[in-house]
Amino acid sequence: MDKATERRVSLNGLIVPESAAAISPFDHGITVGDGVFETLRTFGGQIFTWNRHYERLKRSADVMGLELHDSATLRAWATELLAAEPYPESRVRVTVTGGVGPASTLRGEGPQTTLITTSPLGEVPTVSGVITVPWARNDRGALVGLKTTSYGENVRALRRARDLGATEAIFPNTRGELCEGTGSNIFVIWEGQLRTPPLSSGCLPGITRSLVLELAAELGIEVIQTPLPLQSLPRSDEAFLSSTIRCVQAIHSVDGQALPAAPGPITSRLAAAFTALTEREIDP
Ligand SMILES: Cc1ncc(COP(=O)(O)O)c(C=O)c1O
Repeated sequence: MDKATERRVSLNGLIVPESAAAISPFDHGITVGDGVFETLRTFGGQIFTWNRHYERLKRSADVMGLELHDSATLRAWATELLAAEPYPESRVRVTVTGGVGPASTLRGEGPQTTLITTSPLGEVPTVSGVITVPWARNDRGALVGLKTTSYGENVRALRRARDLGATEAIFPNTRGELCEGTGSNIFVIWEGQLRTPPLSSGCLPGITRSLVLELAAELGIEVIQTPLPLQSLPRSDEAFLSSTIRCVQAIHSVDGQALPAAPGPITSRLAAAFTALTEREIDP
């Protein structure tokens, strides 16, 4: 690797070149996906909604029985890395794994691994196509609501989406209800009403989802959090994805069938309100 252009990462608080970032072959994150993570992004070079992301990371870590450095320490490491690896805007990923352990499912004594990476964030499209997949999100699983590194199901579903010319795959839950995407939450305007699956659907408590719910309340747009049939999505008047990277992204087609409007009027209002929020506050 070319040392001059090599990326740097933060490994356990030390900034090192990518090729020198030594993670044990026995790291439980690598062997069994035993880890938790957050994907954050910058606006104007500053990390957006750090506190909300840290709270979710803490919850994921607590439930998984992982120790987490305090918020100020992790934030300082991420900020230091952003200064060392400056991009116009960055995607920032914080990953904490079970660390060195036996080559079995049982976690070892550690020490845990804390890895922070940054990468340039390119232009994010404001509309995109999605597919639905037949595989269920387990709304009764041990990992429900947590952001863990066990993302194999998402990898498989997203690959299918890409193969079919879409950018996101939408899962039903075990009851066949609309749940979420591989890396996004979903909102539909169906029968004239803005709706989104409740957290009991098994979806991740998305930070962008929460912000959209708060912005909708400010704008006087009623949102119903209610179980929805998967079929509400292709039959919706408009629909959008919410995520840290996509922000509010209109859906133009579902399984190759166009929706009536993308972005529709409600999506446009919420997308504009979200952009305004990112310009106004860095840690809302
Ligand atoms: C499975 C899943 N659902 C939803 C989201 C959206 O969450 P957020 O808005 O916090 O990025 C993500 C984020 O990556 C995710 O991985």
